[in-house]
Amino acid sequence: MLINPIYSPDSQRYENGMTYRRAGRSGILLPAISLGMWHNFGDVDTLANSLAKAHYAFDHGITHFDLANNYGPSAGSAEETFGQIMKKSFAPYRDELFISTKAGHDIWPGPYGDWGSRKSLMASIDQSLRRMNLEYVDIFYSHRYDPQTPLEETLQALVDIVRWGKALYVGISKYPPEAAATAYRYLREHDVPCLCYQGRYNLFNLEPEESGILHQAHEAGAGFVAFSPLAQGLLTDRYLNGIPEDSRVARGGFLKREALTPETLQKIRALHALATRRGQTLAEMSLAWLLKDDLVTSVIVGASSVAQLADNLKALQNISFSDEELQEIKQIIQP
Ligand SMILES: NC(=O)c1ccc[n+]([C@@H]2O[C@H](COP(=O)([O-])OP(=O)(O)OC[C@H]3O[C@@H](n4cnc5c(N)ncnc54)[C@H](OP(=O)(O)O)[C@@H]3O)[C@@H](O)[C@H]2O)c1
Repeated sequence: MLINPIYSPDSQRYENGMTYRRAGRSGILLPAISLGMWHNFGDVDTLANSLAKAHYAFDHGITHFDLANNYGPSAGSAEETFGQIMKKSFAPYRDELFISTKAGHDIWPGPYGDWGSRKSLMASIDQSLRRMNLEYVDIFYSHRYDPQTPLEETLQALVDIVRWGKALYVGISKYPPEAAATAYRYLREHDVPCLCYQGRYNLFNLEPEESGILHQAHEAGAGFVAFSPLAQGLLTDRYLNGIPEDSRVARGGFLKREALTPETLQKIRALHALATRRGQTLAEMSLAWLLKDDLVTSVIVGASSVAQLADNLKALQNISFSDEELQEIKQIIQP
């Protein structure tokens, strides 16, 4: 029987095309493209594929891996997979990695396994560190705003997590503008400034622009990190000719069949045609569009294969758009 060879990263990993962007007013540079483990790294996925994607990512300059306590499925298993990747491959390179996790969505039963209490966050970070075989994470996020818990309780827990050495930085995700403003202020006043705001942003979801969240993060000195930049696969060639059996829609996750309306498919086809004229795939163009100016620090992509990841990385080869192209995109997405 063959034993897995010991992983040795590509010595050219920082010369393979990755670019790095500063997260707000901080010392941190993040890769323009990061890898997220919400799906495709759980215990329903093979470890071999998870390892292959993580290796490919790091070999191409992706230093940032994004997790959360509930990622899988099953919940928690993506962190366990990452723990195995650490043990098998990444341990010697810990200082080259920027690893995030989060708490705030439902993870264990009872009143303390959800939302933003100090009790929940403190227990969750310890569980996450154990699952991932880590002594600390680089950034710990409050995964969502909790309207029931006093915001100061959640924010003070973030501050203390940093003080206790369990995270180097903190961030917030999906906070509405008013709560985000309080968070930026409170965290700055407690000398643990918010490093990143994580929000859903893609060609089919312009909410961060429309709500002002994008500019607010910039003004507060926080980086903006875009999640689901490919609208979970809609903004790729995945659904151009039906619903592939191994796709996120067919597997019945968060992306539902109902999302593929005739109107959306028409937009996907029109965007695909424009991408082809630019010499890009739709996935590449969709990521390039997010990265065209520097308001977005990093886009966190998901990938079910190395080939998808390789395609996504090619986005960096052309992130500029002519005025005509931008106008055409606007007309397609907001007819
Ligand atoms: N803060 C939050 O609340 C929050 C919420 C959601 C996500 N996130 C973070 O953001 C990360 C990314 O989210 P996401 O998985 O929704 O991202 P996404 O990049 O929008 O979608 C990923 C999916 O798109 C398809 N895909 C990716 N590249 C492709 C390519 N080149 N060609 C064709 N298909 C491609 C794959 O679908 P198939 O699986 O069908 O192949 C893949 O699973 C998550 O892993 C997580 O880290 C954070």
